Amino acid sequence: MRTSKEIRSTFIDFFRERDHKFVPSAPVVPVGDPTLLFTNAGMNQFKDIFLGLSKPDYTRAANSQKCIRVSGKHNDLEEVGIDTYHHTFFEMLGNWSFDDYFKAETIKWAWELLVDVYGIDPDKLWATVFAGDNKDGSKPDEEARELWTKITPIDAERVLACDKKDNFWEMGETGPCGPCSEIHIDLGPDRCDHKHIKGHKCEVNAGCARYIELWNLVFIQFNRQAGGELIKLPANYVDTGAGLERITAVMQDKSSNYDTDLFMPIIGAIAEMTGHKYTSQLGNKTDNALRVIADHIRSIVFAITDGITPGNEGRGYVIRRILRRAARFGRVLGAHEPFMYKLVDVLSDTMGDAFGEVKERAAFTATVIQAEEESFGRTLDRGLEIFAGAADRALESKDKTVSGEDAFALYDTFGFPLDLTELMARERELKVDTATFDDLMEQQRARGRAGQKAISTVDLSGVNLPQTDDSAKYDTDSCITKIVGWIDSEGFTGKGRLTEAAGDVGLILDSTCFYAESGGQVGDCGMIESAGGRGQFIVEITQKIADCIVHQGKLASGSISVGDEVTATVDKGREASRKNHTATHILQWALQDVLGEHVTQQGSLVSPDYLRFDFTWPKALTDGQLKQVQHLVHDKIAEKIPVSCAVMPIDAARGLGAMALFNEKYGDEVRVVAIGAGSESQLQQAFSREFCGGTHVDNTGQIGGFGIVREESISAGVRRITALTGQGLIDHLGKRSEVVDDLSELLKVPSEQIFERVQKLIADNKKLAKQLKSAAKQGGGDVVAEAGKLLEQAKKVGDVAIVTGRVSAAGVEQARAAIDSVKKKAKSAAVVLGFSEAGDKVTLLAGMTDDVVKKGVKAGDVIRQIAPIVDGGGGGRPQMAQAGGKNPAKLDEALAKAGELINEILAGS
Ligand code: ALA
Repeated sequence: MRTSKEIRSTFIDFFRERDHKFVPSAPVVPVGDPTLLFTNAGMNQFKDIFLGLSKPDYTRAANSQKCIRVSGKHNDLEEVGIDTYHHTFFEMLGNWSFDDYFKAETIKWAWELLVDVYGIDPDKLWATVFAGDNKDGSKPDEEARELWTKITPIDAERVLACDKKDNFWEMGETGPCGPCSEIHIDLGPDRCDHKHIKGHKCEVNAGCARYIELWNLVFIQFNRQAGGELIKLPANYVDTGAGLERITAVMQDKSSNYDTDLFMPIIGAIAEMTGHKYTSQLGNKTDNALRVIADHIRSIVFAITDGITPGNEGRGYVIRRILRRAARFGRVLGAHEPFMYKLVDVLSDTMGDAFGEVKERAAFTATVIQAEEESFGRTLDRGLEIFAGAADRALESKDKTVSGEDAFALYDTFGFPLDLTELMARERELKVDTATFDDLMEQQRARGRAGQKAISTVDLSGVNLPQTDDSAKYDTDSCITKIVGWIDSEGFTGKGRLTEAAGDVGLILDSTCFYAESGGQVGDCGMIESAGGRGQFIVEITQKIADCIVHQGKLASGSISVGDEVTATVDKGREASRKNHTATHILQWALQDVLGEHVTQQGSLVSPDYLRFDFTWPKALTDGQLKQVQHLVHDKIAEKIPVSCAVMPIDAARGLGAMALFNEKYGDEVRVVAIGAGSESQLQQAFSREFCGGTHVDNTGQIGGFGIVREESISAGVRRITALTGQGLIDHLGKRSEVVDDLSELLKVPSEQIFERVQKLIADNKKLAKQLKSAAKQGGGDVVAEAGKLLEQAKKVGDVAIVTGRVSAAGVEQARAAIDSVKKKAKSAAVVLGFSEAGDKVTLLAGMTDDVVKKGVKAGDVIRQIAPIVDGGGGGRPQMAQAGGKNPAKLDEALAKAGELINEILAGS
C-alpha cells in the first residue's frame, strides 16, 4: 500500500521530471490578499502571475498546497464528518503553466499520472468539459472534449459536458477564472449515500459519494471583475488541483478519506483519549464526532502555525468557531477537559515531514489550543444547558425555531458561534431565527461604531486616488507642497474650496513629510497651513490608502482650495515616536537574548505616548526576566549606538539575517533598520537588523531612558509589553513620585516606611472584618430563634409546615441561615420570611424543602407573585428565591399572601 507521503512525493516528482519547479506551499493565510480569508486553492499564491502583475523566472510549477475551505465561495464546513470526503482542511496537489503548455499536455499528464503511475483503473474514470452557457454566450469547450478522446483511451461516452456550476472555476467573487475539465472516479454502486433520496440517480456531479471528483484542470483565461464582468487575460494559463485525501483513499482502497493514513492516527488518538472505538460508520454519532474533530484539528493546527490565533474578528474568529465546534463534539464523546491540544504532536508526526513549520511551532500551537479549550470549556456546559432550554421552547413553538434572542444570548454570553447553535438545532430538527440574530448583532455593532470617525467608513471602492510622494518623511518634519483634494463623506473631491463647515475630512497633498500609519507606528499629526496663513488644517492622524497618503483632520480656520501651496509640519510627537520605535527594536533583541531566539513578534504599536510589543511566549515573564530585559535595553541606550537604514533587494536583506514579520508581504526592495551600524557599509556589525519602514532616532542615546510599565497576556501564548521612553518615562515617574509623597503625608510616615504601614493597615482591616462577622452571627442567632418561634406557631397542611412571618434580620445571610435552620428542624416546610432594613428597603426570602417542591410549591414562583405587593421584583430556584422591594408597609400583606398561595397549592396536591 502506498502511503500518503509517497503519493504526495510521487506527484511532485512526476511534474519535476516534466520541468516543473517545486514551489513550497504558501501559508494558509493569503499574504497581502484581502479578497480571501484563507488560502482555498493551490493557485492563490500565483494570482498575481495570472493577472500579469508579476513574472516568475519559471513557467511551470507544482506543489501540494495547504488549503482551508470554511467560508466564502468554497465552503464545505457543514458536510464535514457527515460524509466521507469533505474537509475544512485539505491538501491540493497541483501543477501550473504560466503561458507555457495548455490543454493537451494538462490532460495527457493527468491521465498518465492517475493511470500509469498511480495505477488507478482507467475504466472507472470519467471526464467532464465545459458545456458553455447560453446566458452569457460562452462557448462549449469542444477542444477539451476532442483532446480527451484523442490523447487518452477514454470512451467518448464517458466525456460529459457540464454547466457553469461544475465546469467554470472561479477563485472567489473576483479574480482569475476559466472553464475547467474534471476527472471523476466511479467507486461503484455500494458507495452511493443518496439511496434514501427519492429519484436519485448515481452519476457524475449528482452529489452522491459513488462518483467523486479527483482532479480539476482549470484553463484560466479570464479575470472576474467586482461588477461581474469577465475580462480576457493576455495569456492562457493552466491551474490544476487534486485532493490528496481523495486520491489517497482511492489508492489505499478505503471507502472513506478518514480511513487513510492521513486521518487514522488522529482518529486513533482521539478515540483512545476519550475511551471510544472508531467503527467507520456513517450516521453513527460517535464516529461522526471523531471524524469532525480529526478534520477540525487539522485546520486549527495549520492556521495557528501560520500565524492566526483564535479571536473575535476575521480569520481569528473562523478558527475560534471551528475550535469551539470541535470542543462541542468533544462533549459528545464525553471529553470535558481540554484534549485537542494533545493532538498537535500526532499531527506533527504525520505531517511534519512535508510541512516542517508544524513541527517547529508545535509547542506554541498546543499552548494556544489548550488555552482556547480551557476558556470555552468554562462556559460550554452552561451554554449547552441554556441551549437545551431554548430548544425545548422551540419544539413547543409553531415554526420549530430557536429564537434569535436565545441564539444571540448563547453567542454573547456563552461564546457559542451562530453556526454552532445552528448545528445543534439541526441535530434536533429545529431552525434558528438568524434574521433576528443578525439584527441583534447589527445593533451591537452599531453601538460599537457610534463615535467612530465618519471618514473611515466612506466607501472608496472604484475610486482612483492620487499617489502621494512621501519620500521626505524620513528626512524632514516640515515641507512645502500643494493641495490635491480631499475625501469627505461623499467620497473624493479633486477641485473646489474646503471650509470649516466640511467637518472631518482626509486632505490629500501632492507630496508630504507626514508618516502614515504602518508597521505598527501610528500616523503623524500636525498642521497644514496655506501660504499667508489663509487656512489652517489640523491633522489628527495620517493614513495610507493604496499609494495615497490621507491627512485626516479638520480645518481650524479660514479656507483652503485645491492647488493652494501649503506648508505641512509634523507635530513634535514624531520625535517621541522615533524614540519609541528604535526602543521597540532593541526590546525585541533583548527579549530574544533573555528568552531565546524563537520569541517572535506578533504585533506592535509605536505611538508618541508609548510603545507596545506583542510576542510569542507561553507564560508571564518573571520579575528577574523583566529586569534583565530592561537592563539590556538600558545598556544599549547608554552605549549611544548609531542607527542606520538602508534600502536593498529582499534577498540581500535576508542574507544579512534581517528579521522580517512572519505574515507580511514584502516587495522586491525592502528597508532595513540596523542598530549598531554607523553607515550602510557596517550593517553586518549591527546587533539588531529588522525589515522596517518606520522612523527612527539616529543614535540610541537619543532615546533617553526606557521603562517597562506593564507585562500581560493578550491571547493564548502571546504576551504584551508596554513601555515608555524619553519624556513619557520622565512624566510617568514624576506622577508616581507624587503618589508616593501623597501617601507618605496621608500615612504620616517617611516614604521608605509606606509599605510596612500599609501592610499593617491591611492586617488590621482583616481582623476588624472578622470581628464584625462574628458579631453579626450572634445577631443571626436571634433571627434563627425568631424563625424557630414562627415554626412552632406554623400551620400545617399534611406534614408540611407553612412558616411565614417577619424576622429582624440585618441582611440576607442571616435570613437565609434562619430558613435553613427551619428546613432542617421541620424536615418538610415551606418558609417565607421578610424583613426591612434602614430606609424603605424590604427583602423577602422563600425556601422549600425538596418534598414541598415536588408537591408543586416552588420558591421562585411564590416570590415572583408576592414581590409586586411590596413594589419589588425577584426570583430564583424552586428551592430558594429572593426579592427586594420598596414598600415596608405592605410586608405583612405580602407574607400573608405567600401563606395563602402555598396553602392553596398544597391543599390541591
Ligand atoms: N483551482 C482549482 C480548484 O481549486 C484547480 O479546483
